[in-house]
Amino acid sequence: MNILALETSCDETSAAIVRDGRHILANVIASQIDIHQKYGGVVPEVASRQHILYITPVLKETLETANLSWAEIDAVAVTNGPGLAGALLVGVNVGKAIAFARQKPLIGVNHLESHIYSNWLIPPQTGDKAHPAPQFPLICLVVSGGHTEIVLISGHGHYKLLGKTQDDAAGEAFDKVARLLGLGYPGGPLVEQAAQSGDPTRFPFTRSWLRGTYDFSFSGLKTAVLRKVEEYRPAPPKPAPFSGGNQQDKPIKQTPLALNGDLPVADIAASFQQAAVETLATKTVAAAEAHGAKAIIIAGGVAANKALRAALSEQAAHLAKPISISFPPPILCTDNGAMVAAAAYFKFRYAKEAIAELSLDIRPQWELT
Ligand code: KG4
Ligand code: ZN
Repeated sequence: MNILALETSCDETSAAIVRDGRHILANVIASQIDIHQKYGGVVPEVASRQHILYITPVLKETLETANLSWAEIDAVAVTNGPGLAGALLVGVNVGKAIAFARQKPLIGVNHLESHIYSNWLIPPQTGDKAHPAPQFPLICLVVSGGHTEIVLISGHGHYKLLGKTQDDAAGEAFDKVARLLGLGYPGGPLVEQAAQSGDPTRFPFTRSWLRGTYDFSFSGLKTAVLRKVEEYRPAPPKPAPFSGGNQQDKPIKQTPLALNGDLPVADIAASFQQAAVETLATKTVAAAEAHGAKAIIIAGGVAANKALRAALSEQAAHLAKPISISFPPPILCTDNGAMVAAAAYFKFRYAKEAIAELSLDIRPQWELT
């Protein structure tokens, strides 16, 4: 079964064709990073306008790469939430138009579910045998820009939320720390890169363990990084309270910031990353052990992080009963159409309600469970 899938939930416009939920025939991703970079984050209106511009050429390239005719496409899948409303609308409307015009079944897919199913995709240049499908029951750590969750998956479509972040998502924390360190956007890969030459033990930031739960909290860690940065670059003094009168014409006085030596960007990045991945890995491995999981998988943009992968492998190696760990290749961790097609295939096979009506709507706040 060949599924054509569309992904426009945030700032990547992507289309893909996947056979039987695992074999990628085409996966075309048009990133908008360059466009949003100058604003330091995704501007929702700009993102939806870019999706409109990119979606047709991306679709055309996808069909050409897969070298399939419309008759060989069996269904159309699209991410309909969670995500940015205006961005989701573009994919959903294009998906509906194709389904209507070509008379194909339409499948709406949850974005978190599609991240999870990136683990079923056979990475390019790998054979089926080298990449067997994950075995249930399994624990998935979902770590993206908007979500951080530990999910117990007992079978296709059967999810139980064990814990989640109480404040910032892990990706959000990486992005904010990148901004504090002046590294730019998107923060995750830049923090990871800066951390490579840093000492992760130099600043032992307090870990927020929330003991007895599988929940996370990253806001304290983010504030600790802010305080550390302020030790080197004190915050500018607060402006004097408004004293009346017309001050419009007065130039704003800029107080030069006192610098206490160079900001140790690499050491702060490495110490932050270490603290973040340590809590993520410890709780994920503990959940897997407590629930008798056969496998641990990770999903979402932060799953591309090598320190997180290393911490998970290291912690799992100490378990009395071995648990397999698998990671999608980095290109399949961040948003892409192939994972949408994979999720749609298994939903189509295992859920009666998989086929959507043409009234399918966006669900910007859609939770997985
Ligand atoms: O899954 P994703 O592409 O989009 C969402 O659904 O949110 O995740 C994007 C997030 C961003 O916060 C980005 O900074 C983070 O994933 N990210 C990383 C890495 N690559 C992307 N965080 C840490 N290390 C990375 N290598
Ligand atoms: Zn995503």
